[in-house]
Amino acid sequence: MTAKTPSSQAPTLLEPFQLSPSLHLRNRICMGSMTRNRNTSQHIPTPSATRYYSTRARHGAGLIIAEGTFISPTGSEWLNCPMMTNPTHAMAWRPITRAIHAEGGTIFFQPWHEGRAQNDLAPALRETGYPVLAPSAIQAKAGKYRFLDGVPGHTANITPMSAEHIKEVVEQYRRSCELAKETGFDGVEIIAQGGYLIHNFLSTRSNVRTDAYSGSVPNRCCFLLKVVDAIATVYPISHIGVKIAPCDNVADIACSYAELSETYTYLIQRLVERKLGFINLSRRGCETGHPNDDFSDSTVRPADMELPTGYDPLEEFGPLVKFEGSETKLMVNYGYTVAEAEGLMQRGKIDLITFGRPFICNPDLVERIRKDVPLATNGRGGRVNYGPYKDPDENYNDWPMAT
Ligand SMILES: Cc1cc2nc3c(=O)[nH]c(=O)nc-3n(C[C@H](O)[C@H](O)[C@H](O)COP(=O)(O)O)c2cc1C
Repeated sequence: MTAKTPSSQAPTLLEPFQLSPSLHLRNRICMGSMTRNRNTSQHIPTPSATRYYSTRARHGAGLIIAEGTFISPTGSEWLNCPMMTNPTHAMAWRPITRAIHAEGGTIFFQPWHEGRAQNDLAPALRETGYPVLAPSAIQAKAGKYRFLDGVPGHTANITPMSAEHIKEVVEQYRRSCELAKETGFDGVEIIAQGGYLIHNFLSTRSNVRTDAYSGSVPNRCCFLLKVVDAIATVYPISHIGVKIAPCDNVADIACSYAELSETYTYLIQRLVERKLGFINLSRRGCETGHPNDDFSDSTVRPADMELPTGYDPLEEFGPLVKFEGSETKLMVNYGYTVAEAEGLMQRGKIDLITFGRPFICNPDLVERIRKDVPLATNGRGGRVNYGPYKDPDENYNDWPMAT
């Protein structure tokens, strides 16, 4: 698990990295966006979150991507998640962005809309009357709603988005990013995976519309590209990333190999053409990777949606991002070890690495890598990844340092 200094000029995890002309990271190690459910019931972060994020920054995280933050009253399954729809929400993030900057770190905002992976009986939706919006009224299988009776799963009560809804939600993305910029976030990572709204548009499993947002690959990619273009009116395009998981198999979103190959080839080409800052490519849904706690997504892929044996999306999609002249950087995530990430970087296959779960139980993760101290594993079990807890610091700010 060590980051050795190579004898050649090959890049290393710990060296500084220029993400854009105006954005310098102190190293190539990024803390992945992680929902931890430690915000107030009013969806705003507390001093516990400032402690949590600033500790990771103090100990060297190159880029921190903040937890997914709702752009509207969505988010029924996720209690105590943040929202960014008004200046009160924005102000509550200010101590966090300031603390990260004071520690020499960089922090990106992650706007989030859950799409069809919701339940309309959840308090957040009942109180506001906000509908479950998705491209088409196709219920996703499964879904856990711990605070609802029985096992309701994801809702069937979906409102297929009208042209007006699409405009409204694109504007919600833009507005939330505008608030994020005002509060000091350095950039944005758009989540386009996980079976949430943007992913719902990308996959034929959840998108059977008959308009310009469905059918062909360009049509299914259109919603995401509109969101990117809207956010690019707020942040420079080089400060925007898109997180994708072509093989994702959560929230009933898997598609065939042929579909994912065609869809993500087209999508990546359009994003790179726009000179997007980075693409964060997840290998979730593949059999590669090293589970690092008992939190994993092991649902079997539906029939006819199997992947080629040993398939790794990095091999297929990496070269579409990393080629001479490309201004878009390649970040990867999902079950990477330090040694594996270092090897890929030295071979020029990736620019940046995201660690998610390792940052939970290693508050001083980057220092441990720098000093060659073994990384802790999460002996408390994957359940503790998510809150809420009565004491928000529990399983959040109580992991020991080793450096
Ligand atoms: C508790 C937890 C919450 C997560 N929440 C988010 C999220 O809000 N947004 C997101 O894009 N990814 C989320 N992820 C995924 C991580 O950002 C990361 O991509 C994933 O954990 C793979 O990296 P790892 O194998 O190093 O943990 C979450 C992961 C965990 C463990």
